[in-house]
Amino acid sequence: MENRLKEMAENAREALRGASDLDELEEARIKFLGRSGILRELQQGIRDVAKELRPQVGKLINKTRAELEGILESRREELEQLKVHERGDEQRIDVTLPGRAEHSSGRHPLLATLDDMLEIFLGLGYTIAHGPEVENYHYGFEALNYPADHPAMDEQATFYIQDDVLLRSQTSTVQIRVMEQQEPPVRVVVPGRCFRRDTVDATHSHTFHQLEGLCVDEGITMADLKGTLLAFGKGMFGEDTQVRFRPDFFPFTEPSAEFAVTCFACHGEGEGCRVCKGSGWIELGGAGMVDPNVLAGVGYDTERYTGFAFGVGIERFAMNRYGIPDMRLLYSGDMRMLRQF
Ligand code: PHE
Repeated sequence: MENRLKEMAENAREALRGASDLDELEEARIKFLGRSGILRELQQGIRDVAKELRPQVGKLINKTRAELEGILESRREELEQLKVHERGDEQRIDVTLPGRAEHSSGRHPLLATLDDMLEIFLGLGYTIAHGPEVENYHYGFEALNYPADHPAMDEQATFYIQDDVLLRSQTSTVQIRVMEQQEPPVRVVVPGRCFRRDTVDATHSHTFHQLEGLCVDEGITMADLKGTLLAFGKGMFGEDTQVRFRPDFFPFTEPSAEFAVTCFACHGEGEGCRVCKGSGWIELGGAGMVDPNVLAGVGYDTERYTGFAFGVGIERFAMNRYGIPDMRLLYSGDMRMLRQF
């Protein structure tokens, strides 16, 4: 019996110490120290040992168990340590490699353009107003003097949520909301998202941004409008910038104009210029004198007050400014594009 015990102990030591990973160690534990392991078997064999020898053998068994458990524990620790080191090896950092440069975030070209625009108008004494993107027919069209059958209200052009609820197709809706809230003098700019049922391509998007301007006071004339847009153009593109008005039509302004500034790249030369495609001008948006119908609609005294309004498309502006060839790039979230700003 003692010999068998010694032999078993020898084998167990070897197996435990020699286990090359935690799985192997567990295997050895079950084989020798487990509930139906060899040691247990031997322990049960004590019945066949002569009575007077039993205490001695019993002691030996206990001693062996204690010793083997000690070996098991220390090997387990060793193997666990080893595992940690191995993981460390996999993830080892080579401190001599050049670092990866952190990219600090810049302003998105749309926001950068908008911020610069707002700065100019804040400098001219304007305040910033906001309005809802979801509007009803009254603010969307009626109060803006649209005749009942105007094509802009068509489902072709406007997103409807319900019969009377729509996504605003222009920031001009906020003109009404502002005027309802206050008496003249009014000087506000309104940045915001707008929505139209346009098919997405390089120059169109169903969601886009505008900056609206509105100024109402006594004695406001079209010269004020042009002077304001000239100050805006110069502020954005430099002192030699000129403004051009061409007749246009909007239901809420009379007279109305589309306005353009001299191209910042060729300074109005035009010929061969890629930015303005040779025209010398960059079209920025629509403008005009607020139609008296609109002023009357919000309860303003049209004998006393006149006003002008304008709306600038921010996407087109940013694309010209930064040479971005495709509007979709502005919304793509593509880091290859965004990193350039
Ligand atoms: N809201 C017009 C548009 O989206 C632009 C505009 C604004 C025209 C204000 C006149 C006055 O095209």
